[in-house]
Amino acid sequence: MNRKSRFGRIGTFARKVLVFLVVSAPVAFAQTPPGVPPDDQAVRQRVDALLKEMSLDEKIGQLSQLFAFGPAQPLEDAVAKGQLGSLLFVTDPAVINRYQHLAVEKTRLHIPLIFGFDVIHGFRTIFPVPIAMAASWDPAVATKAQSVAAREARSVGIDWAFAPMLDIARDPRWGRIVEGAGEDPYLGSAMAAAQVRGFQGDYIGSLDHVLACMKHFAGYGAAEGGRDYDASYISDSQLYNVYLPPFHAAVKAGVGSAMSAYMDLNDMPATGNTWLLQDVLRQDWKFSGLVVSDADAVKSLEKHGYAKDLSEAALDAFKAGVNMEMALDFTAYSKGLPAAVQNGQITVEQIEAADRPILEMKVRLGLFENPYVDEARSQQVLATPEHRTAARLAAERSAVLLRDQGKLLPLRKNAYTSVAVVGPLADSQVDTLGSWAFQEDLVETVTVLSGLRDKFGAGARVSYAQGVQLRREFPSFFDEIFHLKPEPVWTPEQARNEMSRAVNLAKSSDLTILVLGEAQNMSGEAASRESFGLPGEQEQLLEAVSATGKPVVLVLLNGRPLDIKWAAQHVPAILEAWYPGTQGGNAVANLLLGDAVPGGKLPVTWPRDVGQVPIYYAHNTTQSAENQGKRYWDEESTPLFPFGYGLSYSSFIFSDVKLSRTQIKPGETIEVRFDVENTGAVAADEVAQLYIHQRSGSVSRPVRELKGFERVTLPAHGKKTVHMSLGKQELSYWSSAKKGWVEEPAAFDVWIGGDSEASLHTGFEIAQ
Ligand code: NOJ
Repeated sequence: MNRKSRFGRIGTFARKVLVFLVVSAPVAFAQTPPGVPPDDQAVRQRVDALLKEMSLDEKIGQLSQLFAFGPAQPLEDAVAKGQLGSLLFVTDPAVINRYQHLAVEKTRLHIPLIFGFDVIHGFRTIFPVPIAMAASWDPAVATKAQSVAAREARSVGIDWAFAPMLDIARDPRWGRIVEGAGEDPYLGSAMAAAQVRGFQGDYIGSLDHVLACMKHFAGYGAAEGGRDYDASYISDSQLYNVYLPPFHAAVKAGVGSAMSAYMDLNDMPATGNTWLLQDVLRQDWKFSGLVVSDADAVKSLEKHGYAKDLSEAALDAFKAGVNMEMALDFTAYSKGLPAAVQNGQITVEQIEAADRPILEMKVRLGLFENPYVDEARSQQVLATPEHRTAARLAAERSAVLLRDQGKLLPLRKNAYTSVAVVGPLADSQVDTLGSWAFQEDLVETVTVLSGLRDKFGAGARVSYAQGVQLRREFPSFFDEIFHLKPEPVWTPEQARNEMSRAVNLAKSSDLTILVLGEAQNMSGEAASRESFGLPGEQEQLLEAVSATGKPVVLVLLNGRPLDIKWAAQHVPAILEAWYPGTQGGNAVANLLLGDAVPGGKLPVTWPRDVGQVPIYYAHNTTQSAENQGKRYWDEESTPLFPFGYGLSYSSFIFSDVKLSRTQIKPGETIEVRFDVENTGAVAADEVAQLYIHQRSGSVSRPVRELKGFERVTLPAHGKKTVHMSLGKQELSYWSSAKKGWVEEPAAFDVWIGGDSEASLHTGFEIAQ
């Protein structure tokens, strides 16, 4: 029944009263005190009551989300007509309030908008990029970071973060490896759940939190050749055992929304993929949240050669289970769905089913009661000093010490009177933050140069030379969208002069700290590469500075492993700082000078060369296993640094591994216990890692799989007993022979240690 026929016989006043009653009647339920989640049934009832009053147009309107780019007028008109359920990329609280006012005051049923944004690793306070947070091997770091991000975003009126990105990536050519937790499903799952907790708090609608959105469902990280947006071909075994687990972990952690991916998965576009969005997500995993498409991904179904036109694209995505379409200027849903209902291709009930989770989230987030934000408060929240402290600590915990020959690090503060800080990233605020940092206050971003200047204080003269310029071969469309103007390209003569100035500075200084890597736009979306060399002339700069014979420390800012073979042999100290965020410079200075001790570990296998890709530790082994490291005749087939690797200023010993039992039945659990001891004279962290190998089964199993980890802080010479357990969850896998999950009778190896090459060994058996 449409709106006209329903209300046709009653007067305007009576209609207004009715609408008021419908919208305000269930208010009581949502007024739960802070800390108390709303009652599920009350939420559903309220949504049902709303749906009863909504016209078909209003129902379809809720399913569209647009970017707030371009002129405001058309968007304002659409909001006022109830043609949109959501906007993204509005970050000014005053503008958010303005749009919200239109939604709440001008539309018949006063349904608020939900505002989304890419809050990936911070909003105003930028935290280390996600791959860095994974390198902390400390889920608490990720939870804290995303709760700060949520608090800041929510304070300006953003209700929905398009994060965490849970795509496993085993090909670092893919630029978006920086946005995820790396190559491993176990670490990825822990980081997934941790981030969901950070964004959403204890429940959806927790004070100062936002709705999280796991993305990109699913398989985007396996884009062929690492080429962003290209198709993925993933076997069922890899899907279930590697690519899907982080998403499942997020669902178990209560994530309220999911974003469908751009690419074809085994020829079927993820955004039209009923198997992914219905069978796996909703049926197997019981996900009851909302699915939003990636930007313009619904319309792209036509470009994929899948849908014959836009109307079919809308229908395909809708039927597959995409509740809301995200689009740049118009949605296929708004064009295609009204006709599809009219001609009977879909029913009004199906539209309502798609609306339900969207409206539910709006109710849960309290948007009906509190649609507006307090602009003055947002300024206070964004200025919170504790947020910056949390960002510094996160950056300190995320850094990975790759090399420290001759114990050059930590630097002794009074040992140097002149320090050269050299490199194109050393004093670049944008490049200290990494991609997906839009709302950052650049003025307060601490570069490595300024962090070091501050740290050395009057004790040393800290001088700077850029040395080389960085530039993408093909420009990034993000630079165009956000109007980032690259600095004018140097003439060959300017380039030569600057290079010699940098080398001379190194010559005349007691110590050089080189800050090299990738500029912010070289890593992230649409930032894939076919090589891993240090971009531009950085390798030449590195080698020339090293040739001065003065001590050199290399600090890397980047989002993927790079080809640093030469540095790994010739540069005594290398610190992987990733893109460390707002407080990055202070964190790096603390780490280099020993006020913080590196304890991060690699969440990815670090290849020697791009030709080894894909390379990951949890590979299977087949013929000639003893020659695993000699698969190529022109280069070792081992990594430069293994997964889980990272040094410290201290050293550790693992010992005394004990199992509660050496034989169990399927479904039973084994407790694992071992000691880790700090054998050095400084307090430091070690990440205890547990790997298993199933020796036989219905299919071949990886040589090693991470199944437990804990970042342990130990005082100098301190020792701790660590407990982990291995149960059904850790010992089951999806077997392509059985086409299902199995836990099989077999012998298992267990290794304990500080990286994926851990050597402390024991074993057990699962018996029938
Ligand atoms: C495209 C990206 O793939 C996705 O991750 C992001 O959330 C949306 N654009 C919105 O910006």
